Amino acid sequence: MRLFIAIEFSGAFRNALCGVMDKMRRQGVSGNYTRPENLHLTLAFIGQSDRTEDIIRIMSGISGGPFAITLDGMGRFGDLLWVGVRENPRLTELAESLCCRLRRAGFPVEERAFRPHITLVRRSSGSFRVSVPPAAMTVRSVSLMKSERIEGKLVYTAIHTHRL
Ligand code: 2AM
Repeated sequence: MRLFIAIEFSGAFRNALCGVMDKMRRQGVSGNYTRPENLHLTLAFIGQSDRTEDIIRIMSGISGGPFAITLDGMGRFGDLLWVGVRENPRLTELAESLCCRLRRAGFPVEERAFRPHITLVRRSSGSFRVSVPPAAMTVRSVSLMKSERIEGKLVYTAIHTHRL
């Protein structure tokens, strides 16, 4: 299974992101837009693994209670366009703690610094000017996500959710 750990979004937070994508579409930006139900914030990318029990045990060791995240601007990695999340010590600590525990358990999690981003468009082309609303949500849980291609469509399914 292809796995990653992510934050899933509230309806209002998702709607704010869909509003940004609508504006981009209206300005002629083409590419593979993320389907609304697939919008998420990745904390740790695990890749191919069947060690779900080990990952769930690692997630259960994470605590600290709920915290807020806020959208903050846009950026690109090549032709991948994303919305950023405001600098946030709780979020950074959560991602680093998960990645560190996963590495210690032998998962090949990348050592790169955590760059919180929500991918909106892959293989994009076209220029645009869009302001991102400072939408916020309370993060109460993290989810272990399975990524699959079903009939050509990318489908993400939460296979375990851990309350913070
Ligand atoms: P991306 O949106 O920048 O592609 C599922 O693929 C999630 O894991 C996506 O949010 C993706 O980020 C993220 N991810 C992080 N590292 C990855 C990698 N090496 N390969 C694929 N996806 C990765």
